[in-house]
Amino acid sequence: MAKSARYTPKSRRKALESVRTLITHSQIQRRIAEMAQEIRRDFPVEPLHLVGVLKGSVFFLTDLARQIGGDISLDFIAVSSYGSETHTSGQVKLTRDLDSSIEGKTVIVVEDILDTGMTLQYLLRVFEQRKPRRIRVAVLLDKPERRIAKVRADYVGFTIPNEFVVGYGLDYAERYRNLLDVGVLTLGAKEKNRKKTQ
Ligand code: IMP
Ligand code: MG
Repeated sequence: MAKSARYTPKSRRKALESVRTLITHSQIQRRIAEMAQEIRRDFPVEPLHLVGVLKGSVFFLTDLARQIGGDISLDFIAVSSYGSETHTSGQVKLTRDLDSSIEGKTVIVVEDILDTGMTLQYLLRVFEQRKPRRIRVAVLLDKPERRIAKVRADYVGFTIPNEFVVGYGLDYAERYRNLLDVGVLTLGAKEKNRKKTQ
């Protein structure tokens, strides 16, 4: 693992950035198997409707769904709140709605990371109006230090410090989603200075 721990992109601009591994792919897989067990312990036979928040949750959702087993259906919703910056605008906008109704279903909202909580607060409000039987929230990562909105997840993979992370679905300006591990992104000096003046 140590050899792949540092990923340095090739181009000049991207070479200013580096990623330091925080959680390895095998740690993620082990934890997802445990989370799946927790979920099936709470809902042993019930059909579960997993709703993934695009795009960050895709790898987490597909791995989690296969570990939970039993009667599972999937849907996706997309919101935008981040743009290409590492700081949220605080505004959440629905950019793609669900394909099917959630009325009467046991819904598990699957998110990559719970940060300020603005996204989940918005989504939970939208979903509650649609009369599901129950709603639970599963997140791979939780950054509690950054919380603004009063929301909590029922199932949390890892609690992490207040650092900007990428990989396993999480991006910076749409890049790094395909990294197997989750790592802390460090921007180069030039990039940091540019961001400060924005
Ligand atoms: P929240 O609304 O502030 O809780 O942010 C939720 C969304 O912001 C997540 O679904 C991510 O898409 C994005 N986000 C928050 N923190 C990070 C991070 O450290 N890396 C990448 N994306 C993040
Ligand atoms: Mg996301």
